[in-house]
Amino acid sequence: MEVIIKESYDQISLLAAQIIADLVHHRPRASLGLATGSTPLGAYRELIRMHREEGLDFSQIVTFNLDEYVGLAEDNDQSYHYFMWENLFKHINIIPANVHIPDGNAKDLEEACEHYEMEIDDHGGVDVQLLGIGSNGHIAFNEPGSSLGSRTRIKTLTQQTRRDNARFFASIDEVPKYCVTMGIGTILEARKLLLLANGASKAEAVAAALEGPITASVPASAVQLHPDVTFIIDKAAAAKLKREYHSELSRVDR
Ligand code: GLP
Repeated sequence: MEVIIKESYDQISLLAAQIIADLVHHRPRASLGLATGSTPLGAYRELIRMHREEGLDFSQIVTFNLDEYVGLAEDNDQSYHYFMWENLFKHINIIPANVHIPDGNAKDLEEACEHYEMEIDDHGGVDVQLLGIGSNGHIAFNEPGSSLGSRTRIKTLTQQTRRDNARFFASIDEVPKYCVTMGIGTILEARKLLLLANGASKAEAVAAALEGPITASVPASAVQLHPDVTFIIDKAAAAKLKREYHSELSRVDR
């Protein structure tokens, strides 16, 4: 595992965007696994800048998002569909048909989850999967207790996650109770994982994910099983780590 500790959120965002841009340059038809939440926003802003100012070309890129709430209309400003279009897709030259986000409004949610897995397979899997981390150690919406072999499915959100995400809604009562999320097994099949975290509220989860035992109680700890995972975190998120880490990539990444 590679762990890069940066001084600031902006530096995390720049490095993450550079790694993704590098892949887009070298593999114009790459599949990007994308995440929502506040953490990847800076990386998305930088990718938009690279598209506008440097001509970074997304015209053949395919994307797969990690998760979506159940029961929020796609145009609801808290849905992850809305989030992705507002914060990335509408600002770059991605083809809408190449965008994949789990459908939280499907009549048959289970069938939609199976279909999502098939679509990922049909595109040859995910090349780089961007991940945030929940303060309770969740990845995507795989809450503590999620099977480490899980696939895309319907999950119930924990009260902690609903409280964490309530800041985006008028009140906690409006935060959906259910979601559709790629499973941990699905995420681990991506060829590369890029986990971003910033701020003191993530320090415990980051330490448990990186230095704790692999356990379903900390879903992010499953990334220890992955052969190519890079954590890019700031000092506050790194504060509870005990081993020694670096501030630069140890190799040219692609
Ligand atoms: C959300 C998302 C995750 C995200 C996490 C952290 O609930 N489902 O994909 O990584 O929680 O969010 P944030 O980046 O806002 O701290």
